Amino acid sequence: MGPQKGSRPILAIETSCDDTSVALVHVDGNVDAVLSASQDLEHEPFGGIVPELASRNHTLQLLPLIEKIFVATGTGWNSLEGIAVTNRPGLIGSLMVGVVTAKTLSLVHSLPLVGVNHIEGHLLAPFLKDSQFQAPEGFGFPYVALAVSGGHTHLFLVEGIERYRVLGKTVDDAAGEAFDKFAKWIGLGYPGGALVDRASQDGRIDAFHFPRALMKEGNIDFSFSGLKTASAKILADLGDAEVLHRRGDLCASFQEAVVDVLIEKLKRAGEMTDVRTVVVTGGVSANSRLRQRLSALAQEKNWIGVVPPLRYCTDNAAMIGYVGIQKLLLGHKDDQSLSPSASAYASDYQVES
Ligand code: KG4
Ligand code: ZN
Repeated sequence: MGPQKGSRPILAIETSCDDTSVALVHVDGNVDAVLSASQDLEHEPFGGIVPELASRNHTLQLLPLIEKIFVATGTGWNSLEGIAVTNRPGLIGSLMVGVVTAKTLSLVHSLPLVGVNHIEGHLLAPFLKDSQFQAPEGFGFPYVALAVSGGHTHLFLVEGIERYRVLGKTVDDAAGEAFDKFAKWIGLGYPGGALVDRASQDGRIDAFHFPRALMKEGNIDFSFSGLKTASAKILADLGDAEVLHRRGDLCASFQEAVVDVLIEKLKRAGEMTDVRTVVVTGGVSANSRLRQRLSALAQEKNWIGVVPPLRYCTDNAAMIGYVGIQKLLLGHKDDQSLSPSASAYASDYQVES
């Protein structure tokens, strides 16, 4: 008799954007290992992600990373539950590298295959566990999750595995994208979110006024394009020398505008659904001010507030593995017809009517 079903880890592959990542994850959320290769240095000279470069780098990085994680953990092909791969949403060329690799490996090693929605990975990331992290006592379904990164700014009601209700989303740009643009304009590098965060440490949050969009009562959608336009005007009016001189104040005030909106909408979503547990995930959740404001909100409302550690918030394969192994054990496998998709499937979410 082989090992009991569900006792082995899944091999997860994430290549939806610019990070190549692999992980070994168990059904209870325990992460044996996660290994990622960042491409920031390759894209930095262009001030943003160049899709063709991203696909090419995934091709270079992926198989060596899988080999490395097997060596590091003493895992082999015959000790896996299956293979999970992000197949949606994302850059099509990047997704293609992961999907074709996963399909081939599944065929060669006769392992079950499961395609995962990247956003679902972000939403369930708080269930991941390792020697340094475990979600706080009392954490569980249902909860409201704000998934906020360079590609998405979405509010969900997470009721269970495969039960996600979209509560609100950005009508234009993602919050991370706004951070990155702003950073570029004031002469910080790429990706800019973390640099704006750092520069804000010695700035005043009320030095400049940046607009907060869609704040009318009851609205839980987001819009950041107006903030971008207003920022461009503020910077142009100040001129290069003054922008450089007032960088800290500009960053702190800009960051406060973004965080104000994110926290207010999260608060409204929590109140509307009455769930009492709120999660912030995605790359922007690294933001120190957002983390501060989330814990203040949780304290004020007596809610459980969870931000998974950074390694599970930024794009990573561990979150894909967690979703993949839940699906596999529910019997939701894919076959060789699995293909990459630039957008999520309509069936991925229930839309609030
Ligand atoms: O989840 P992620 O790694 O990749 C995407 O799916 O986009 O998120 C990357 C985004 C970038 O826009 C980056 O500027 C932003 O997260 N980010 C931050 C911080 N660290 C990363 N934004 C604000 N403050 C930070 N500390
Ligand atoms: Zn992401």
